[in-house]
Amino acid sequence: MADKVSYKELGLVNTKEMFTKAMKGGYAVPAYNFNNMEQLQAILTGCAESSSPVILQVSSGARKYANQTLLRYMAMGGVQMVRAMGSNIPIALHLDHGDSFELAKSCIDTGFSSVMIDKSGVPFDENVKVTKQVVEYAREHDVSVEAELGVLAGIEDDVKHEASHYTRPEEVEEFVKRTGVDSLAISIGTSHGAYKFKVKPGEQPPPLRFDILEEVEKRIPGFPIVLHGSSSVMPEFVDMINKFGGQLKDTAGVSEDQLRRAARSAVCKVNIDSDGRLAVTAVIRKCFGEDPKNFDPRGYLGPAREALKKVIIHKNEKVLGSAGKG
Ligand code: G3H
Ligand code: 13P
Ligand code: ZN
Repeated sequence: MADKVSYKELGLVNTKEMFTKAMKGGYAVPAYNFNNMEQLQAILTGCAESSSPVILQVSSGARKYANQTLLRYMAMGGVQMVRAMGSNIPIALHLDHGDSFELAKSCIDTGFSSVMIDKSGVPFDENVKVTKQVVEYAREHDVSVEAELGVLAGIEDDVKHEASHYTRPEEVEEFVKRTGVDSLAISIGTSHGAYKFKVKPGEQPPPLRFDILEEVEKRIPGFPIVLHGSSSVMPEFVDMINKFGGQLKDTAGVSEDQLRRAARSAVCKVNIDSDGRLAVTAVIRKCFGEDPKNFDPRGYLGPAREALKKVIIHKNEKVLGSAGKG
């Protein structure tokens, strides 16, 4: 196992103060997933340039892909890169969709400042039990904990949920009290991946269930809420992917208007992964199509990184309202 290290030594922060400020300021902190250097550079430079707080998210799949020790040092190097740019934005390192106490503990022990324990797929009492166990360990290390009630459709790590069920507002108060968790992910109609809604071309996806969100807010006022599955599946990148040989049909994401509305509410953290994947894939396909002689990875990874940075700045400035809050 990697050596024990506290996130505080890495220049990271937990999400407590970020969420207090987001709640007061009526915006949401972006949580962007990364698996490699170019994504990390794009996220951090985009957030530094737009002066936004940021949560760097790592899934267990990302940990396996990039190596857990390397990822941790990449995050540490990322913080130093941002400081060298003269930016002081708060940066958290968060485990996305942790599925066990052991995984959450391993992340806490190796420099994460925040962890998600996702037991949304098991019965309520079991979810409470494991979440509470993670909270107790996290408290000793001043690490934030996110949990989930309700199930999103789509792909969560290796688990594929065919069906979703919305969060039941009548359960949230007891869950938060019994677990002592710091934030709660809820299911109000978002889902993971590029295929969020079954819509025909030209049709609008159904709106999110803001009535459920409002009911949750009434029962746990001022408590930080998290929205997963919040990519907009940006049409410009879907079109670019298809133009250059890809096959993405009838995709739709969460509209920016819906996200703006959510960001003004108790939603303090918005998770975005697929939009980053789509931007990178689109630009790489375009580069391959337009410059078939190139074989230097910098020739396509560089433009892909630049496009992702622009996506990050757009979301911070125009959707989540986090720009200028770092
Ligand atoms: O919600 C899941 C995230 O998009 C992470 O996906 O497990 O493929 O890294 P991943
Ligand atoms: P998207 O697939 O909509 O980007 O959601 C990402 C997410 O929820 C990561 O936890
Ligand atoms: Zn998620």
